[in-house]
Amino acid sequence: MEPIAIGLLGLGTVGSGVVQIIENHQEKLMHQIGRPIQIKKVLVKDLKKERAVTIEPTLLTTNIEDIINSPEIDVVIEVMGGIEETKNSLIQALKNKKHVVTANKDLMALHGSELLSIAMENGCDLFYEASVAGGIPILRSLVDGLSSDHITKMMGIVNGTTNFILTKMSKQGSAYEDVLKEAQQLGYAEADPTSDVEGLDAARKMAILATLGFSMKIDLDDVKVQGITTITERDLQYAKQLGYTMKLIGIAQIEDDKVEVSVQPTLLAEAHPLSSVNDEYNAVYVYGEAVGETMFYGPGAGSLPTATSIVSDLVVVLKNMVLGVNGKSIISPQYEKKLKAPHE
Ligand code: NAP
Ligand code: HSE
Repeated sequence: MEPIAIGLLGLGTVGSGVVQIIENHQEKLMHQIGRPIQIKKVLVKDLKKERAVTIEPTLLTTNIEDIINSPEIDVVIEVMGGIEETKNSLIQALKNKKHVVTANKDLMALHGSELLSIAMENGCDLFYEASVAGGIPILRSLVDGLSSDHITKMMGIVNGTTNFILTKMSKQGSAYEDVLKEAQQLGYAEADPTSDVEGLDAARKMAILATLGFSMKIDLDDVKVQGITTITERDLQYAKQLGYTMKLIGIAQIEDDKVEVSVQPTLLAEAHPLSSVNDEYNAVYVYGEAVGETMFYGPGAGSLPTATSIVSDLVVVLKNMVLGVNGKSIISPQYEKKLKAPHE
């Protein structure tokens, strides 16, 4: 049986997890899609680097063209990060009729609608479940599971690194720099952790959530952002003494046809369910007019949880290939409502 050929862009924290899941769950994946998955080529920067997974050295390349222009590759999994160059490469891949799965929220928050249009024009899938809240299948839940409802508000913890930092500072009295280093070693932080600690990573995720949840384009500039860099250990201790927990909270809500999206450190009463979301875990409350309140909880960062979302997206791509419906089931807002964006 001919295998489905995958090109993997990146073999760091998330890329290594993707390799592990494809290897370790091969039988289950085969059962679902009826064909084996074969990793054909893997893009890295440094061919000599020690890797978390064993990979045949001849599969590695430093030339992205070997993947995006290869006639042998069916699906490109992008887990390298970056914005402009990565966008151009993915456009090239889509124009070459390759389906794309990405974990890149920086890219999707800025250029998601353009990339999704190009994917559709070319009959390709472009999925990005891993871009928000790591292992929690929140995007599909918004566009599929809650598609019949009118979502009015989403609120939660969508950055694992800052939640890890605030948890360790508050519960163990650890120093900010030490915990940040630990989050980097554990693979939770971005290559440049400034985007985590200054709230930009959470803002990008809230822009994606609001775009999908409210079926309207929310730009990153529409999100008010404040990070955790000014929070001290003493602030956290005082909060604790008063019965509060400090969390970096993202909120997106529609009121009177106006959308507001923000990310900021917030004091929560200890009894609040989000107070007990600790370490790298994320949680998102979704309020729907009909369903009421639902909460999604799980690991928000890290190798295997994030890779789970990616390989699950891959399964959808492959099922779509079998059904011949690629490019028709994308996770994209319908833009059917005309609400006022924050800048209008
Ligand atoms: P990472 O550990 O830094 O890995 C990045 C990989 O991409 C490395 O293997 C690197 O090669 C390769 N790479 C980067 N730029 C390249 C270039 N210009 N040419 C060739 N290879 C290049 O990053 P990560 O944590 O896996 O994150 C990857 C993506 O997933 C990012 O978009 C991130 O925002 C997103 N994400 C991460 C997490 C998480 O928990 N870490 C969760 C959700 C989403 P070398 O290994 O040779 O340096
Ligand atoms: N740096 C991100 C976080 C990775 O800490 O949440 C997951 O998107």
